[in-house]
Amino acid sequence: MFVTRDLPGGALERLTAQHDVEVWPGRLPPPRDELLSRAPRLEGLLSLLTDPVDAELIDAAPNLRAISNYAVGVDNVDVEAATARGIPVGNTPGVLTESTADLALALMLGIARRLAEGEAFVRAGEWATWEPGLMLGRDLHGATVGVVGYGRIGTAVGRRLEGFGCEVLTTSRSGGVPLEELLERSDFVTLHCPLTPETRGLIGTEALRRMKPTAYLVNTARGPVVDTDALAAALRTGEIAGAALDVTDPEPLPGDHPLLDAPNLLVVPHVASATHATRGKMADMAVDNLLAGLAGEPMPNSVNGEALARATPQAP
Ligand code: DGY
Repeated sequence: MFVTRDLPGGALERLTAQHDVEVWPGRLPPPRDELLSRAPRLEGLLSLLTDPVDAELIDAAPNLRAISNYAVGVDNVDVEAATARGIPVGNTPGVLTESTADLALALMLGIARRLAEGEAFVRAGEWATWEPGLMLGRDLHGATVGVVGYGRIGTAVGRRLEGFGCEVLTTSRSGGVPLEELLERSDFVTLHCPLTPETRGLIGTEALRRMKPTAYLVNTARGPVVDTDALAAALRTGEIAGAALDVTDPEPLPGDHPLLDAPNLLVVPHVASATHATRGKMADMAVDNLLAGLAGEPMPNSVNGEALARATPQAP
């Protein structure tokens, strides 16, 4: 069993009680050659969103029986390759919904009310007096907010926004308004769709042009849903008022990345689910998935459970 990073809480103890487990000790992801060198003897893998679990790795692991990803998003896992081998892939939906929605709201307020800027201003000793025109921002209450992707997290964001008296527009695979209309009407656009071939680069030059010059973009989904260069350009030319990002492309964003020179940008390091309680629950869920997969039972939360069940017809 290989676990690619130590996890918060006591969940890994349940795994080590039943299996021979190696936990990668580093703060950074295990290098590719480390993963590949372990592959031949790998039976179970508990991966993070920073670990590419691609077809090459899956092919190199003939004994692999379960992949459990410590995230709801599984864009780092080649699910098709795993399914073709009959390997269940687990994820951690639900338990991080509310924490992620909280952070989306925090980012909306943070960018529109200029929190980072205000803090830097005070620390720099520039707070000379109360000024009528100092750090004017824009209101979230009463605003029109466009939620792109109206699944579990998008819905939780929508619920919070009702409390702020917002008009909530939504767009998703199952309905809502057309994306173009949402972009044109929203004061805030907040992204909650998974990263798929269809959503990669969804918010690019054209989409940003459709947004109001007074509108903010918030991304707590996946970095590549937004075209980074197009966003940097839109911030520089004032095509949109600002952006608040929990996720970036590339990720991590190097300290000297040109995006960081763009104005009106608030960035935090992919921490939407980072509360003690939520990360602990994610660990429990990831361990439960791995234990079930290794025991040959259906994982409690698996992204390919149905596909695997279809591929393995039950005996009559
Ligand atoms: C996820 O689970 O996909 C988040 O991005 C990290 O919690």
